[in-house]
Amino acid sequence: MTKKTVAIIGATCDLGFELSKIYAKNNYDLIIISRDKEKNSNLKNLIESLSKNTKVSSYELDILDLETHSKVYNLIEKPIDGVISLIGETHNVRSIKDQKFISIINTNYTYLVNFLTFFLNDFETNNKGFLICLSSVAGLRGRKKNFIYGSAKAALITFLSGSRNYYNNSNLFLMTVLPGFINNKGSKLNNLEKLLAIDPSSLANKIFVAHQQKKEVIYSSFIWRMIMFTISLLPTIIFKRLKF
Ligand SMILES: NC(=O)c1ccc[n+]([C@@H]2O[C@H](COP(=O)([O-])OP(=O)(O)OC[C@H]3O[C@@H](n4cnc5c(N)ncnc54)[C@H](OP(=O)(O)O)[C@@H]3O)[C@@H](O)[C@H]2O)c1
Repeated sequence: MTKKTVAIIGATCDLGFELSKIYAKNNYDLIIISRDKEKNSNLKNLIESLSKNTKVSSYELDILDLETHSKVYNLIEKPIDGVISLIGETHNVRSIKDQKFISIINTNYTYLVNFLTFFLNDFETNNKGFLICLSSVAGLRGRKKNFIYGSAKAALITFLSGSRNYYNNSNLFLMTVLPGFINNKGSKLNNLEKLLAIDPSSLANKIFVAHQQKKEVIYSSFIWRMIMFTISLLPTIIFKRLKF
């Protein structure tokens, strides 16, 4: 079987580790791209020790450092078969005057999309490639707790939908992943949230299987699909009064 290469952006989270393991096990070499040098090299060493036949290259990128995007992209060895973007930063809204909003929007959408388009341009030229991108159910209907993060994730969902339409006649595959809660090692979830959460290893597995089955939009579970379906049906006059 010929080897393929996948780039994972924001690879140093729990889900990134689990996806790295699965793709390595399934004959992919890895390009891991993250902002933290130490976490990056720990992940590289770990994957290399677990999967001796996998070539792992690592690059540092802070997505908020727009000036370095093209430099980092040019350094990466090509060709690349696909890219998985896990980059995200959650943020609870306390004041509408919060100056941090702009960096939340840039991390989750504007600057992320700038970097992703380098990959998409090459995929378009080669007429093949895949992009798997983590958005969130928070992008499906805005609520007061996290609507700045949610609005950036909504923009990302729209970007992916539009790109799917734009690349429809080419050999590009784009998947939008819509998780509810992820039960990461450091997560502080309450009991109900824990009940609805998915482990990073199960989510990674779901993503890999959905990729093989060419599913274009997936939720982390059937329950989340149902929750969001119900929420989408609520009239604004009721939804705006909810406290959650
Ligand atoms: N956790 C949840 O409950 C949940 C729910 C729905 C959707 N999601 C989405 O699922 C994805 C994975 O989430 P997660 O909670 O597992 O991990 P996470 O802790 O939110 O972080 C995801 C990755 O983004 C990276 N990142 C953040 N800001 C960055 C920047 N400026 N430059 C470069 N990398 C940056 C992080 O790097 P560091 O390792 O250096 O911090 C990390 O590798 C995210 O897109 C998230 O929005 C999460």
